[in-house]
Amino acid sequence: MRTYLVTGGAGFIGSNFIHYMFDRYQDAIKIINVDALTYAGNLSNLEAVAGLPNYKFVKADITDRKVIEKLFDKNDVDVVVHFAAESHVDRSIKDPDCFVRTNVLGTTNMLNAAMGAWRLSNGKFIPGKKFLHVSTDEVYGSLPEEGGYFYEDTPYAPHSPYSASKASSDLIVKAYMDTYGFPANITNCSNNYGPYQFPEKLIPLMIHNALEGKPLPVYGDGKNVRDWLYVEDHVSAINHVINEAKLFETYNIGGNNEKQNIEIVRTIIDVLKELLPEADPRRANLSYDLITYVDDRLGHDRRYAIGADKIRKDLGWEPKTKFVDGIRKTIIWYFENQDWMERVTSGMYQAYYEQMYGGKL
Ligand code: NAD
Ligand code: DAU
Repeated sequence: MRTYLVTGGAGFIGSNFIHYMFDRYQDAIKIINVDALTYAGNLSNLEAVAGLPNYKFVKADITDRKVIEKLFDKNDVDVVVHFAAESHVDRSIKDPDCFVRTNVLGTTNMLNAAMGAWRLSNGKFIPGKKFLHVSTDEVYGSLPEEGGYFYEDTPYAPHSPYSASKASSDLIVKAYMDTYGFPANITNCSNNYGPYQFPEKLIPLMIHNALEGKPLPVYGDGKNVRDWLYVEDHVSAINHVINEAKLFETYNIGGNNEKQNIEIVRTIIDVLKELLPEADPRRANLSYDLITYVDDRLGHDRRYAIGADKIRKDLGWEPKTKFVDGIRKTIIWYFENQDWMERVTSGMYQAYYEQMYGGKL
């Protein structure tokens, strides 16, 4: 039985990864999920697996050296899948410190604990161990509107405190691979969408606001471009990298699906209109008039686009979900899980929303 230590498994991509793995491997794997349950971590994302004998949740901060070392002492961890991070660019602009703490120091702590458990006295590592560091395409900076793609050898040029902290964490992982031969891979992925995404991010925020008849805050001219990938395709790519990638390789993962933000927002309105029954009072309020242009994000990257040729060539991975299907599935999921949305948007979310958008809308 292979043991996976998943960090940040109560967040958006981490919880989708855990579901994906149990759906496919059932009792052939054990998953230990380490998560500090920040505002972004939600155990209700994992209700369906919580009672499994081969699943264990540990509430812990990845910067806590003693607790993380103890986890490695008590469990024969085969694979670390490191998702835990502060992940929202806007929050990093308001409060960069915790991004450096979690993303840089937390990652270093995870590496040190894995080194302690996996490194033999001769300096080599126990065969079969792997640390997968989950990172972002934002480390590469911004592309011109006219074209070009991010490849694995594109120089790092992060702009936001978030992307700088992720770039730093990638470089620390690279340094451990180069210096110690530490068994790792890095993945740099584009924008994910799908179930369980916290509604501070574009797609769930717009769905939530649209259903409430609230303004839809579009930054700047709305023409920034992101390369959207359905989250299930991302976690399947991660599984390929865990099982098939040679150690020390980096893989870019993308959806081959560039969209301007404004197109996304209009699509959400169109699909919600189709889904809501005629008699639903929320339908009457739904129109493009809800779109409200607000001040641009500071240092807003114009365009991201992933060149995913390497993962396709080496590992045979390609995204399976067409955007037209993925966005529908996603909207239907939020539509059918409004209790989830209500739970995560109660309390602290209100304060966040007021602070982030209060003066703008
Ligand atoms: P998320 O914000 O939804 O989840 C992050 C999780 O990490 C939460 O459960 C949170 O409680 C946990 N966490 C935060 N700080 C912690 C700490 N100090 N100790 C332990 N747990 C902590 O993030 P996500 O969108 O699921 O992203 C997961 C990873 O994927 C991140 O590393 C992010 O940089 C990367 N990534 C995300 C996207 C995307 O579009 N969402 C794209 C590419 C890469
Ligand atoms: O590219 C991968 C990255 O994608 C991940 O590393 C990050 O963790 C993830 O948050 C995401 O970053 P973005 O900044 O691209 O995602 P966000 O959903 O915050 O914004 C997407 C685009 O929409 C961006 O151009 C800003 C814009 N936007 C966002 C919000 C929240 C708006 O116009 N209005 C909004 O209210």
